[in-house]
Amino acid sequence: MTFQKFSDTYIPLVDRYITSQLTHNFSDNRHTLEQAILYSATNPAKRIRPLLCIATAELVTIPVEHIIPLAAAFEMMHAYSLIHDDLPAMDNDDLRRGLPTCHIKYGEDIAILAGDCLNTYCFEMLSTELPKYFEARNVLSCIQKFANSCGIHGMAGGQALDLLNHSKNNNLIELETTHSLKTGAIIHSCFLLPSLLSTTAHKQTHTLSEIGKKVGLLFQIIDDILDVKSDTETLGKTAGKDEEQDKCTYVSYWGLEKAELIAKETYEDILTQINDIDSSKKQELVNIIDFIYQRQH
Ligand code: IPE
Ligand code: IPE
Ligand code: MG
Ligand code: MG
Ligand code: MG
Repeated sequence: MTFQKFSDTYIPLVDRYITSQLTHNFSDNRHTLEQAILYSATNPAKRIRPLLCIATAELVTIPVEHIIPLAAAFEMMHAYSLIHDDLPAMDNDDLRRGLPTCHIKYGEDIAILAGDCLNTYCFEMLSTELPKYFEARNVLSCIQKFANSCGIHGMAGGQALDLLNHSKNNNLIELETTHSLKTGAIIHSCFLLPSLLSTTAHKQTHTLSEIGKKVGLLFQIIDDILDVKSDTETLGKTAGKDEEQDKCTYVSYWGLEKAELIAKETYEDILTQINDIDSSKKQELVNIIDFIYQRQH
């Protein structure tokens, strides 16, 4: 299946699932919070994390219907991270996915709460839905790893490093750690968690995990490059933000040309490693990785 066909097939499935999970039709003022949550979780976007999760699940022979709750949780957690990332106290952005950011549309107070709800709802949803299809102990280890990749050892920790570092005290180890945590940790989990749910141990688990770490880092290197190379209209978010905010990025550290070379080498390294996986179902994953490397937004 081509990347286009794969995303056209699965994105609507994930979006419908997220909408049904998050729609409660409150008759009191929580309706506004509900709207803010739905706005941020269902705005059109690439949905890379659920697609990676579904492609990996196919590789470890989990039926798509069973993995949808986890795929949806990755997107909901991501949506929460973006709401908070855009807040005035963080990156102070007013455009996301070509639309006003959550706090511009609903106010900072509601945006903070929308993020809180998306975060916590992931755990409610995973602990309710996954035991319908998977063994309890596998569900437990999946949820534990999921949480780990979102908190201080993962996304939120990386966001703190991102905020506390400035391009002047750029340090390569710290830069790599920041990127691997703020963006890489959740993407890594998209590669690892389907294996943890599966009853049979998979010989690919270790390789998938290693590939996932590299894809996570690659994703943020490309994000850094697009921030300087692309424009606001194509990105659907404000271009040139990183320099404006004096962020430590692969471009500020290495310069654009070297950052592009590192991205290319990381991509080729990933492809070599994926070649070692012995499965007829790996092409979908390769297509998504190609998209991540070549994307324009
Ligand atoms: C943007 O993520 C934020 C990062 C982690 C780099 P995406 O590029 O996946 O954004 P959407 O979800 O497609 O809008
Ligand atoms: C965000 O990184 C990573 C998250 C955890 C959301 P960026 O701050 O570079 O993401 P964009 O460029 O605003 O999408
Ligand atoms: Mg940021
Ligand atoms: Mg940002
Ligand atoms: Mg960015």
